[in-house]
Amino acid sequence: MSKIKVMTVFGTRPEAIKMAPLVKEIEKRPEFESIVCVTAQHRQMLDQVLHLFEIKPDFDLDIMKENQNLWSLTSDVLLKMKDVFEAANPDVVLVHGDTTTSMAAALSAFYAKIPVGHVEAGLRTFDKYYPFPEEINRVFADAVCTYHFAPTDTSCENLKKSSIPEEHIYKTGNTVIDALLYTVENHKNDLPKLNLDSDLKTILLTSHRRENFGEPIRNICKAVLEIVEKNKDVQVVYPVHLNPNVQKPVYELLDGKERIHLIAPLEYAPFANLMKKSHIILSDSGGVQEEAPSLGKPVLVLRSTTERPEAVEYGTVKLVGTDKEKIVSEVQKLLDDPQEYKKMSEAINPYGDGQACRRIADILAKQLAK
Ligand code: UD1
Ligand code: UDP
Repeated sequence: MSKIKVMTVFGTRPEAIKMAPLVKEIEKRPEFESIVCVTAQHRQMLDQVLHLFEIKPDFDLDIMKENQNLWSLTSDVLLKMKDVFEAANPDVVLVHGDTTTSMAAALSAFYAKIPVGHVEAGLRTFDKYYPFPEEINRVFADAVCTYHFAPTDTSCENLKKSSIPEEHIYKTGNTVIDALLYTVENHKNDLPKLNLDSDLKTILLTSHRRENFGEPIRNICKAVLEIVEKNKDVQVVYPVHLNPNVQKPVYELLDGKERIHLIAPLEYAPFANLMKKSHIILSDSGGVQEEAPSLGKPVLVLRSTTERPEAVEYGTVKLVGTDKEKIVSEVQKLLDDPQEYKKMSEAINPYGDGQACRRIADILAKQLAK
């Protein structure tokens, strides 16, 4: 019996984190041949994840350019994937989520008439500009995919609303929980090399969304300055995304300030362990909204909408947007009111049980059996 050739394609840090446990699952099963293709839409932040999970790509498109744009990203991925498909001839291609790598690789596979599976399918805000361009990237990816691996009931419902046939939708949980549980269990002692004061409360901050470039990110920085000024028992750690549109304003406004630690992006294990040690998380990240609830950490989301409503419904995640006063007052509430803090810090896990990769591999084995 010949093996089923499964090609995983990813390019950015979050896709890599969420696809890594799936690559591992596919590699260990005898029915599959695993082929890994990275676009390297991100370079350093992707390589950090490949290193942690010991993944050696079979194809590396190495497309990242300084301050790249959506047009060149899309066309580079679309065209270069054509050659990869011709060389590897996979039976199925797996893409993840809503990046431009995912959308363009899915489209390229569709043009090559190769079935595509979408991991983390069905997330929606139903607003095409928020987040931009991710909402349309995922709608596109869902439209061309055959297998839809949806993390939650809500994402299954969204797919049905988008006229995806029910028999192509599989509720699997989110592979991010597989990655997180594996990492905090197996890399417990991998902590960031930082001189943090253990007597102070740590607020962890991440921000990188395109909608927040310009004034919003400056507001976030100004809010942080006010928070540390008002609360002498608080320190802020911010691993700053490598996007120049983030680096520039953040270093301009926060570099060298007392009790604010601007650091390079962390490898996933030290980052996950730092989330566990933090008191409050401020973030516009999708992945962090999914991970923090299962670690029992309150997240104030620096956005006005989210495609991840589940943890908001449970109460561990709150949308606060990017208004300076609003961010300061919501953080202050959590610092001052133990009841409020307790309500938001219960460990819940609406995004999965750590078995999503096993389910996806089972479905592929059944659907593609030779
Ligand atoms: C991308 C995704 C976004 C995802 C985010 C996760 C798109 C359009 N955007 O946004 O959906 O949430 O990744 O982080 O798919 N850079 C480096 N080294 C790196 C990574 C980035 O130097 O390892 C710099 C480069 O100058 C690059 C720029 O950041 O050109 C922007 O990278 P890009 O992937 O286009 O956008 P992100 O904001 O990272
Ligand atoms: N992350 C990391 N190091 C950091 C910051 C974040 O490993 O310094 C992880 C985080 O735990 C999550 C993922 O990166 O799994 C989120 O990536 P990002 O915020 O860049 O993208 P998004 O999820 O918003 O698409």
